[in-house]
Amino acid sequence: MSWPFPTELSSCAEKLIRGRHASRAFRPEPVPEETMRRIFSLAGAAPSNSNAQPWQVEVVSGAARERLAGALQTAHAERRTSVDVPYAEQMYAPVHQARRAAFGAELYGALSIAPDDHAARAAYDAESLRFYGAPHVAFLFVHGDGEARLAADVGAYMQTLLLAMTAYGVDSCPQGLLSFYADTVRAELGITGGKLLVGISFGYADETAPVNRVKTERVPLESSTAFHD
Ligand SMILES: Cc1cc2nc3c(=O)[nH]c(=O)nc-3n(C[C@H](O)[C@H](O)[C@H](O)COP(=O)(O)O)c2cc1C
Repeated sequence: MSWPFPTELSSCAEKLIRGRHASRAFRPEPVPEETMRRIFSLAGAAPSNSNAQPWQVEVVSGAARERLAGALQTAHAERRTSVDVPYAEQMYAPVHQARRAAFGAELYGALSIAPDDHAARAAYDAESLRFYGAPHVAFLFVHGDGEARLAADVGAYMQTLLLAMTAYGVDSCPQGLLSFYADTVRAELGITGGKLLVGISFGYADETAPVNRVKTERVPLESSTAFHD
């Protein structure tokens, strides 16, 4: 086997990409505005098919964040869910379901919630609509009718954004759960159009919270990647 040839960026990339983790408890201090502008400007360098950049990003902070958190909790209590992009548990293959279950066991274990305590899990999910206490949340909308193809572009934007945040010392958690309240988000923000894919809560992690010690593993390279020549 030959040795990899590192460049000056290799060790930064290893640190940056492996240093990003989802955080689920935040301190209340806001991210300075200049830092936010840099992060979102950097995220905009993400690639997209034919450079179409089919994303629309709505960043919510301060009083608007408070109002939105309240509206989401009300919508949840009234069971007013609305999804723009269909979701079904069955969309996962058994092998992926097994990974999800392992992650769930890890997460709820860190929260001291027993596997069969469905009420506690539901309460935790409801509480997470307050963005895990993060002072900011960014909503990623996709525009156009291309479905999976355009959503792939937004996925590239999302990871670029998460890494830009990590690079500037900002912690984050993508929350697919927020996309189940698409109409509420649109109504609160006074926007029309676009399909809501995900919300990303961000700020500075509370490093003392046990939930932030959850570590996730990845499958070995050979399980996901084949090299042909
Ligand atoms: C599209 C997407 C949606 C996600 N939705 C949620 C969510 O609703 N709630 C949550 O706590 N974490 C959510 N996550 C975070 C994943 O659980 C997390 O990325 C995964 O377990 C790997 O852990 P890591 O990000 O710490 O490496 C989501 C991640 C992605 C990419």
